[in-house]
Parts: sequence; structure tokens; C-alpha cells
Amino acid sequence: MTTDAHTATRGVGVVVVAAGSGSRLGAGMPKAFVPLAGRPLLGWALDTVAQVPGLRSVVVVAPADLADPGGPAWAGIDPPPGTHVVAGGAERTDSVAAGLAALDPGCDVVLVHDAARCLTPVAVFARVVDAVRAGAAGVVPGIPVVDTVKSVDARGVVTGTPDRGALRAVQTPQGFRRAVLESAHAGGAGATDDAALVEQLGHDVLVVDGDARAFKVTTVDDLAHAERLVAGA
Ligand code: C5P
Repeated sequence: MTTDAHTATRGVGVVVVAAGSGSRLGAGMPKAFVPLAGRPLLGWALDTVAQVPGLRSVVVVAPADLADPGGPAWAGIDPPPGTHVVAGGAERTDSVAAGLAALDPGCDVVLVHDAARCLTPVAVFARVVDAVRAGAAGVVPGIPVVDTVKSVDARGVVTGTPDRGALRAVQTPQGFRRAVLESAHAGGAGATDDAALVEQLGHDVLVVDGDARAFKVTTVDDLAHAERLVAGA
């Protein structure tokens, strides 16, 4: 029946990219597996992914040698039922493409989320899903930029000062109509986020409100900040 067929092809798929080396954190292990209050960052991220409204499928993209969810590195990680785990690639874009290829075909909305943004509140996920469902081809959470930002040339000489009021620092999850993201990955490479690939195709990408807690754990200081947040300090 029409309604059942329609329902069968609607659902949210989340690709959680966790295959980065985390060399800037210097923990001697891939960043997503570094403990935060005794549990890997990836575990914290998946706790929230499990609560995403309309969730249908989750794919975790892990380093090739940590792609066995029964392995010791996965202690303290409780993926939502049915989660697939696949091996990542050399660049973040390669990892996203690997995750996208493994996603349940019944997902019409895809979110791509950095495991390193492990404390992103579920409300951010919900805002992104709602905006894609409302018709946007691509949606990113963003927050106002507090620093003045300069562009520079190869010598470090300033070439421009963009109007700060028009800038946003963007976060994840980034959400897309599935067909749009698949086309973007089929043609593009070398971007630092998925929205840039979608922008290159000429689609509008909408910014919704991000959240300070969606920061990316990159440095030792970021990890200490995350520890304070989960301790409620
Ligand atoms: O390196 P960066 O912090 O920008 O990575 C953002 C996210 O992308 C992290 O969660 C990281 O694990 C993931 N990533 C990946 N595969 C790569 C590089 C990064 O899954 N080759």
C-alpha cells in the first residue's frame, strides 16, 4: 500500500566517522577510542545517536584495526541495535563515503557526525533532521564566530577581513537528503566537511543553531574541558 511503501523508505541514517588518528591529541590511540570519564569518546557519541528521532540505521566508521565491535577497544561502547561497523579511509571524505555505502537503503535522510564531537546534544540532531525534512538539501549546525577572521596569502600577508557577522563556525551532525549526499561524494573530494561537497554541486545548505557542547575534541585541553562537562563542573 502507498503509505506502507512510503514509510518503508523513510528513516534517518547516521554515519559516525571515528577513523581519524587523533595525532593532535597525542594519546597513542585513535581519538574516538580515547577515554572520557572512563569510556571512549565514541561511546558517548553513540549514546546520543541512539536517541535521534526517526533513527533507522547507524554506521560507525572505525580504523581498520579497530573495526571489530567485539574487540577490547570497544569496552564501554554500547552501539544502538543493528549498528554496522566498517573500516575508514585515509581522508575523512573517504571514511564518510565508506559509511554511506554501508547505510540501510531505507534511509532517506543521512546525518554525518564526528565521533570527536562526542557531547553534541540530541537537540542539535533533531534541529538538523527537522530542517532536512522541511525541504533543505543540506543542513549544518553553526555558531557565531567570536574572533575576527583574516584570509592570508602564502607569505602570511592578509588578503581580506570577512564581515564577522556573516561567518559561522560549523559543527556536526551535518544532514542531507540521501541522494544529494551520494551525488556529492560521487563527484567530489578533498573537502573538510560534507556540506562543502554539496555546495559545490550548487545546492543551498542551511545553517541551524549549533551548540557550544558540539565542540570537537582535538587537543588535551579539549579533552579536559569535556571531562569537566561530564562531571558537571
Ligand atoms: O581529524 P578531525 O578531527 O578533523 O576528524 C573529524 C572526525 O573525522 C573524527 O571523528 C575522526 O575520527 C574522523 N575521521 C575519519 N577518517 C579519517 C579522518 C578523520 O573517520 N581519515
